[in-house]
Amino acid sequence: MIVFRDVTLAFNSKVVLDNVSFQADFHEKIAILGGSGGGKTTILRLMLGLIFPDSGKIFIDGQDITVLSEARLREYRMKFSIVFQEGALFDSMNVYENVAFCLREYTKFTEEEIEQRVRELLRRLNIEGAMYLMTNELSGGMQRRVAIARSLAECQPKMMLYDEATTGLDPLTADNICSLINELSQGEPPDRTGFIIVTHKVTDATKVAERYIYIRNGKIAFDGDIQQMRQTDDVEFRKFINELFVMEQCR
Ligand SMILES: Nc1ncnc2c1ncn2[C@@H]1O[C@H](COP(=O)(O)OP(=O)(O)OP(=O)(O)O)[C@@H](O)[C@H]1O
Ligand SMILES: [Mg+2]
Repeated sequence: MIVFRDVTLAFNSKVVLDNVSFQADFHEKIAILGGSGGGKTTILRLMLGLIFPDSGKIFIDGQDITVLSEARLREYRMKFSIVFQEGALFDSMNVYENVAFCLREYTKFTEEEIEQRVRELLRRLNIEGAMYLMTNELSGGMQRRVAIARSLAECQPKMMLYDEATTGLDPLTADNICSLINELSQGEPPDRTGFIIVTHKVTDATKVAERYIYIRNGKIAFDGDIQQMRQTDDVEFRKFINELFVMEQCR
């Protein structure tokens, strides 16, 4: 379980998160929605202990991670796999090397074990054919797949975190990544591997999520399911999710 309790964080006196509290189970399928610069990525970075709040607490499985040493934090980070917004692939390495990188760096696996694991992941994500291509030779959709494969190589996550996994992709490719996100969320609650997808594309969010959290002015302005989202009378939020209503009218 993840618990944010009264989390406040400012950068250069600009308050990004203002007394934010919420809790989530690892098996949930959550979309965090919000405008650019609204603090969505910041929430993921806090959850991983990459940055710390000015005040408030963040509990992961009951442990307040804001007080942990770097070594203990690594242990908690292993509960999550994260696909960063920028993709952050190494363009000097091919696909195989990108996915193998953290296994070589942080585990004691032999090269043979690493190869087996990388091949298995690439097969699972349907990018085995691109194994020896350099990342700048790949389409945007393939690059996202490699980034997902790399995040999965490092751990057996309890929850996947996707920061803007579909942003910048054409609708079909985005749809494809949504299907992959659903496929990778295996099992039944409470054992299911859940995810948090951060996005400003509500129509992509509705292809995967069961719970929607909308961040505005550093606060949680909405937290509910699709039914509640459709019925929200928050005018600004309705504008934000307008695409959803347009899509439904077209049906
Ligand atoms: N390390 C940092 N130093 C200073 N300001 C930062 C830092 N990280 C984030 N910010 C600021 O905090 C705010 C929230 O950033 P964040 O990246 O969380 O937004 P976001 O909701 O993910 O936006 P986007 O949709 O554009 O990705 C922004 O104004 C950003 O400029
Ligand atoms: Mg972001």
